[in-house]
Amino acid sequence: MLRTPIFAANWKLNHGPSDARAFMQRFLAQTPRRHDRTLLFFPPTLSLAAVNESLRDRPDILTGVQQVHAESQGAFTGENSVAMARDAGARAVLIGHSERRQLFGETDEATGKKMRLAVDAHLIPMLCVGETLDEREAGATEHVVLRQLAAGVSQLTDGEVSGIVLAYEPVWAIGTGRTATPDDASTIHAVLRAAIQQRSAEQHQLVPICYGGSVNRGNSQALLSAPNVDGVLVGGASLDADGWSAITRTEFTRG
Ligand code: PGA
Repeated sequence: MLRTPIFAANWKLNHGPSDARAFMQRFLAQTPRRHDRTLLFFPPTLSLAAVNESLRDRPDILTGVQQVHAESQGAFTGENSVAMARDAGARAVLIGHSERRQLFGETDEATGKKMRLAVDAHLIPMLCVGETLDEREAGATEHVVLRQLAAGVSQLTDGEVSGIVLAYEPVWAIGTGRTATPDDASTIHAVLRAAIQQRSAEQHQLVPICYGGSVNRGNSQALLSAPNVDGVLVGGASLDADGWSAITRTEFTRG
């Protein structure tokens, strides 16, 4: 098996350091180490140290940041750089999340710059792509996700592309309770895989493609069993320690 399934929690603007410590204590007590999956947390940057401290005895679980600035340093009040994230113990970074694109004006061009900086800083970049409801209804889904993918990897070499993680997150499914069907997810994941293959023919099989958008305990098994789905990126349902632990223990057969 080339790609170990990924269970990634995106806490968004939830769980400060004290909450994060309590969460991790409860979560770890019921989540044994397993070799058949990779667990990854994206806490708010201010909670990263608390999460990493809680994971002292669990090096199998990785952490990352939800956002970095597109420049490596300078007069950018309030921002954090890739190097700072790495120094603070992050191993990964989310790039191009739809909330960053929609609410904070993150452009395709900025995602390309951030991907370059992340790879240079030895952070695993998790590039998020996904169409809005209007784009879906206009039949533009494939066009949109391929454009976002192309922009995200535009500054990487073919070899570097094999080191990224992708997340397909249809915007209409994020936080709405509406989930893409496993078939829908599989179809778009196959389109993304084919595009990656063009860039990185030898090693495209190394790139995991996760699904995100209203993943929960009830649908995680079906999604993870779908062909081409290599993991999940979970927002709302990752905020409860018991519920998130249960999702990370989902048993499934890879499609
Ligand atoms: P959701 O968020 O699981 O709450 O839909 C997913 C995400 O935005 O990464």
